[in-house]
Amino acid sequence: MTDVSRYSKITTHVLQELKLRGEKIAMLTAYDYSMAQLLDESGVEVILVGDSASNVMAGHTTTLPITLDQMIYHAASVMRAVKRALVVVDLPFGTYQGNSIEALNSSIRIMKEAGANAVKLEGGKEILESIDRILSAGIPVMGHLGLTPQSIHKFGTYIVRATDKEEAGKLIDDAHLLEEAGCFSIILEKIPASLAKKVTSELKIPIIGIGAGPHVDGQVLVLHDMLGITQKFSPRFLRRYHNLSEEIKGSVKAYISDVKSVDFPNEREQY
Ligand code: KIV
Repeated sequence: MTDVSRYSKITTHVLQELKLRGEKIAMLTAYDYSMAQLLDESGVEVILVGDSASNVMAGHTTTLPITLDQMIYHAASVMRAVKRALVVVDLPFGTYQGNSIEALNSSIRIMKEAGANAVKLEGGKEILESIDRILSAGIPVMGHLGLTPQSIHKFGTYIVRATDKEEAGKLIDDAHLLEEAGCFSIILEKIPASLAKKVTSELKIPIIGIGAGPHVDGQVLVLHDMLGITQKFSPRFLRRYHNLSEEIKGSVKAYISDVKSVDFPNEREQY
């Protein structure tokens, strides 16, 4: 955790400074006001309004169905809570690929309607024109390489990416292209730790990993996974800090029992 008094507001420049200092960056996802407030008060540097909302909030099996309007709703809820963290919002599938003007318009909507601090896009060379156009409007962009869940139908599986020379080479080239274009940071998802280490040492911008080993500048996890709210998803890289699903179910069962037995409400809990 960073020294709160040192940084009253985390900006892209602060992240750059943290990389230079060798201080790791902690990033988590949030999709609503209450959770975002807890994360911000706990001192996390970056909050990602991820399109993983499609999975953990809406119950879809992929991130593809979530819409721009839905992402803006989640992002606006998060922004109402956050005072200190940098808030990055995912551009959802179909709002930036193959059309840089649409990419810019989608990003402007996220910045204007939600009040976000930055946007995140999945992909390298193939979306460079979109990235260039968004950056030309002064909107900070975070890249995302490796396992890019919006391309799940191309990959066919969620297994670790860039294990062969060709894909690893493309990932390194893409990372350099994103840095040269002006991205302030890149997420590397589910790739070999040695490859993430190489990218992190070659690039000046902060590299955030998820399933990319320890030799990166920071880590990100999906909040519902690390709190143990999601139950079935357990990849090797996921560390569960809590078993909240059991705690929530235990509390709900106790409530049901109290209601049935008329133990709730008691004399002090009525008017
Ligand atoms: O949508 C998301 O939560 C993400 C993280 C897995 C990095 O992109």
